[in-house]
Amino acid sequence: MKTEGGADAAKRRAGERAAEEVEGGFVVGLGTGSTTAHAIEAIGRAVDDGLDVRGIPTSFQSRQLALEAGIPLTTLDAVEGIDLSIDGADQVVDDADAAAFGTLIKGGGAAHAREKFVDAAADRFVVVADPSKLAARLERPVPVEVLPDAHTVVADRVGDLGGEPTLRSAEGKDGPVVTDNGNLVLDCEFGPIDDPETLAARLSRVPGIVEHGIFVDLADTTYVGTDDGVEERQ
Ligand code: 5RP
Repeated sequence: MKTEGGADAAKRRAGERAAEEVEGGFVVGLGTGSTTAHAIEAIGRAVDDGLDVRGIPTSFQSRQLALEAGIPLTTLDAVEGIDLSIDGADQVVDDADAAAFGTLIKGGGAAHAREKFVDAAADRFVVVADPSKLAARLERPVPVEVLPDAHTVVADRVGDLGGEPTLRSAEGKDGPVVTDNGNLVLDCEFGPIDDPETLAARLSRVPGIVEHGIFVDLADTTYVGTDDGVEERQ
């Protein structure tokens, strides 16, 4: 029998807690990743029980999960707005004294370009995480989605900004990861990031970058699943 490990249980608690915020009539942004998958499944169960919602997926993966869960889907250009977006993160600044409190790194699933505009469009953006994602400051490599023809010039510019870029390769296959948008991903190691807002602005100015995974000041709250419950950070 498959048993649920500590991190999986924590992710499930966080995802299910966020799903409780979904109300009848809501348009919901459906993020990507294993933590958000628990939220999508929980929303699907609520739909089975009669809740009227429409989902906007942020990736092929979350679209498939939502379809399996029976969540009716829509698109951003067909609605007046998004009431709530639920999404995971690779790292979250969790030092209440830090200027960057609540700032995120996303893009572990190469979906951060769609995730960013969906999450940013939501009236309320809820992050779901397990404790391994919390940090005093961001230090994971920053995923950067690039136009394929631009990956070498963008890599040079990332080097000028002090980063070490690595083209993300597809696990178990020859060749690079290709995003849902047909682009490539550079994972850019900057070491500890003291000023994520400035780095985010500099990356946004590089021609050929479609989107980077630093999410500055977007999250309204973070639900962190623990061994025995859920903690809220805001
Ligand atoms: C995808 C993401 C994910 O939300 C992030 O990688 C977290 O994933 P998980 O919940 O599986 O740990 O940003 O682009």
